[in-house]
Amino acid sequence: MENLMNKISQEGLALSDAVLKVDSFLNHQVDPVLMKEIGETFASKFQRDSITKVVTLESSGIAPAVFAALTLNVPLIFARKRKSLTLQEDLLTADVYSFTKEETNTITISSKFLNEEDHVLVIDDFLANGQAAEGLIKVVSKSGASVAGIGIVIEKAFQNGGKRLRSKGIRVESLAKIAKLEAGKVTFVNEGSF
Ligand code: G4P
Ligand code: NA
Ligand code: NA
Repeated sequence: MENLMNKISQEGLALSDAVLKVDSFLNHQVDPVLMKEIGETFASKFQRDSITKVVTLESSGIAPAVFAALTLNVPLIFARKRKSLTLQEDLLTADVYSFTKEETNTITISSKFLNEEDHVLVIDDFLANGQAAEGLIKVVSKSGASVAGIGIVIEKAFQNGGKRLRSKGIRVESLAKIAKLEAGKVTFVNEGSF
């Protein structure tokens, strides 16, 4: 997605050879015009897949996911990372290990929002090692629902999440694929460097 890659080139900051800071439009401040285009792009890729729900993980997945859900005209469910005061009912859970943070979090979705008739589009902001995406698929699968695929805003193709998921036969649609991060320079897969 050209506008997304331009935004990453202009405003993204490679903090190291592994971490890209994009807090001016995705992870802290949000660019709604760009998020709308991202959501519509996911929706168009999955428009023939009879999606009934969009599922993401709080917090940064929510902005792109809400626009995908709006365009597909289906509800959005965001999995929670912390126990909610009001979420007392039956919970679907999965443990997600973060290599970045070196900690395991339990993510949860209330069982009342998903069932075996659902066909789910999973969305997340980043794909690194794929732990969050695999956790989301696990939670969704526990409800009996099926997963049509995963929409990722930024895939770090030099980490192994994309390979892991695709090798399991999961459809992964990434709107920007980063081949390499260096100080002050982002190189996209197939797109050269900026
Ligand atoms: P994984 O799920 O692919 O294995 O990734 P990891 O554990 O490394 O990711 C932990 C958190 O860091 C996630 O956000 C993920 O989106 C984010 N992340 C991973 N790599 C990058 C990166 O290069 N840049 C940025 N900006 N974020 C990255 P989170 O903790 O769930 O936070 P949020 O959704 O509340 O923003
Ligand atoms: Na994030
Ligand atoms: Na995320």
